[in-house]
Amino acid sequence: MSDKIYMGEKLFWENKFLNRKNKLMDPDEFLINKVDFFKKGSVLDIACGDGRNSLFLSENGFEVTGVDFSDEALKRLLVFSKERSQIIKVKKLDVSKNKFLDELEIFDNIIINHYKLPLNQLLKIHYKLKKNGILYICGFGEKNKINNGLRKEDLLLKSDINKILDYYNLISFLDKENDLGNIVQYILRKK
Ligand SMILES: C[S@@+](CC[C@H](N)C(=O)[O-])C[C@H]1O[C@@H](n2cnc3c(N)ncnc32)[C@H](O)[C@@H]1O
Repeated sequence: MSDKIYMGEKLFWENKFLNRKNKLMDPDEFLINKVDFFKKGSVLDIACGDGRNSLFLSENGFEVTGVDFSDEALKRLLVFSKERSQIIKVKKLDVSKNKFLDELEIFDNIIINHYKLPLNQLLKIHYKLKKNGILYICGFGEKNKINNGLRKEDLLLKSDINKILDYYNLISFLDKENDLGNIVQYILRKK
């Protein structure tokens, strides 16, 4: 077994955010022109990191709650939001833990960007969305090559999305290449 710290692990992310430049990254290019799909109101940003998408959504009039398990990420998010005079609610949560959903209210929209939510949680996330609420999921697609930095379990599987379609209508789907590789984007509306 490799002793390399992997990106699913907290320490990997703490180091990554500690060593990141003191500058907020641009919001995700796939999210930018899709905000019109969102329902007016609140957004839960799952595994929000240091907040590039949370802040973008807040600046676009949404009331945003960001959750992440990295202290460093959330510290940075709070600095960036203060600099921009935006209010983002943050919660430190490990979203792979069974009870994380109990800690949260119900939202108009949920985004999961570049984080693979464990399937058992993905199956339950609809409880935290209002009727007609939007679930936005974007990340590495199945066409990517597996390597040291990317495991099979990090890929967004169409079969996982198919498992939640009882609760949602798929209203937009994209499958594209960018500098990072094959990216897939699903926008689902809760029935
Ligand atoms: C690739 S970054 C994506 C950050 C953000 N969503 C974005 O698009 O910029 C993955 C994020 O997932 C967070 N993360 C990984 N595993 C987690 C877990 N079990 N619970 C909460 N956050 C987690 C990391 O701390 C990191 O901020």
